Amino acid sequence: MKAVVAGASGGIGQPLSLLLKACPLLDELSLYDVVNTPGVTADLSHISSPAKISGYLPADDGIAKAFKDADVVVIPAGIPRKPGMTRDDLFKINAGIVQGLIKASAQYCPKAFILVISNPVNSTVPIAAETLKAEGVFDPKRLMGVTTLDVVRAETFVQSLTGERDPAKTVIPVIGGHSGETIVPLFSLAKPSVNIPADKLDALTNRVQFGGDEVVKAKDGAGSATLSMAYAGYRFTEKLIKAVKGEANIVEPSYVYLPGVPGGDAIAKETGCDYFSVPVTLGPSGVEKVENIVPNANEYEKKLLQAAYTGLKGNIEKGIEFVKNPP
Ligand code: NAD
Ligand code: LMR
Repeated sequence: MKAVVAGASGGIGQPLSLLLKACPLLDELSLYDVVNTPGVTADLSHISSPAKISGYLPADDGIAKAFKDADVVVIPAGIPRKPGMTRDDLFKINAGIVQGLIKASAQYCPKAFILVISNPVNSTVPIAAETLKAEGVFDPKRLMGVTTLDVVRAETFVQSLTGERDPAKTVIPVIGGHSGETIVPLFSLAKPSVNIPADKLDALTNRVQFGGDEVVKAKDGAGSATLSMAYAGYRFTEKLIKAVKGEANIVEPSYVYLPGVPGGDAIAKETGCDYFSVPVTLGPSGVEKVENIVPNANEYEKKLLQAAYTGLKGNIEKGIEFVKNPP
C-alpha cells in the first residue's frame, strides 16, 4: 500500500505526513511538494515505523517518481484563506494546482484512490472528476472530497451538550458541501440521539458551518486549520485504507460524484446536485454505496438543505466550466 501526499511540506501536509508515516497499514509513503520535501522527508525518515518514505520536488521528473503506482493520493496542495476571504476566493490559484496534480495521478497511478482536501472542495472535486474524465480514467468510486473536518467539528461542538467523554462516540452526519451554508449538520439523526435545546440549535449549527472561519480569524493571517485538518484527513485516509484491505462496515461522509456511485442517483435527483457529501460505505473498490438520509432530515434541517443546494450548484458548475472551457 503506497500513499502520496501532494502538498506535503505545507501546514496540513506536514502533520498529515507524520500521521501517515506512523500508520502501520502503509508500506510506502511518498511526499511531493514544490518546496522543502527533502527536509520534511529526512526528518520523518527517522521514525521507526514500517512505511518506507521518499520525497520529491518537481525537478528531475519528481512528480512521476512520487506518483508512480500509488494506491492512495491525498491532495492538500494549494493556498489557504486569510481573514476576509471565502473558500471560493481560493479558486483562481488552487483550481490549476489541483488540475495539475490530478493529471499526474491519471498518468502515473490511474487506479489510485484520490482524496481531495484543497479548497474550495465544492469546486476542486468537480475539477478533478472532469480532468480524470478527459484523461479517460475516471472511476467515481475512487474520487473523494474530504469533508471529515466538518464531522469532527460537529462531534466536538456537541459534546458540551451530551457530556460524553469521547466526542467521537456520537455519530453526527454532516452532509452537503464544504463551505459555510453548504455544510449541513443533521443533529436530529445523531446516534445515539442528542437533545439540543431549541435556543442552542442555531448557534451550534452556525459554529459547524463556519468553524473554518473561527480558525482563520484566530490565526490572524497565518492561514487556516492545519492540525485539526491533518487529524481529519488522516482519519478519513485510515478508514479508506482499512476498507480497501477488507474491513467491513466502514462509513464516513465524503463529497462524491453521485451519478457514478451505487445509490447516488436517488440523492442527485432529490438534491438537484451531482456532487454532494453523504455517508459513504467504503470498501475494496472505494465508495461501495451511499446512503440517502436527506428524506430523514427534520424541517429545520430541510430549510438548511435548500440553501445548501443553491450554493453548491454554482460551485459545482464553476469547477466543471474550468475544465471544459479553460479561462
Ligand atoms: P499551506 O500553504 O500551508 O500548504 C500548501 C502546500 O501546497 C505548500 O507547501 C505549497 O508549496 C504546496 N503546493 C503549492 N502548489 C503545489 C503544487 N503544484 N504541487 C504540490 N504542492 C504544491 O496550506 P494549508 O494550510 O496546508 O492548506 C492547503 C489547502 O487545504 C488549502 O487550499 C486549504 O484551504 C485547504 N483546507 C481544506 C480543508 C478541508 O476540510 N477540506 C481544511 C483545511 C484546509
Ligand atoms: C476549514 O474548514 O477549516 C477549511 O476549509 C479551511 C478554511 O478555509 O476554513
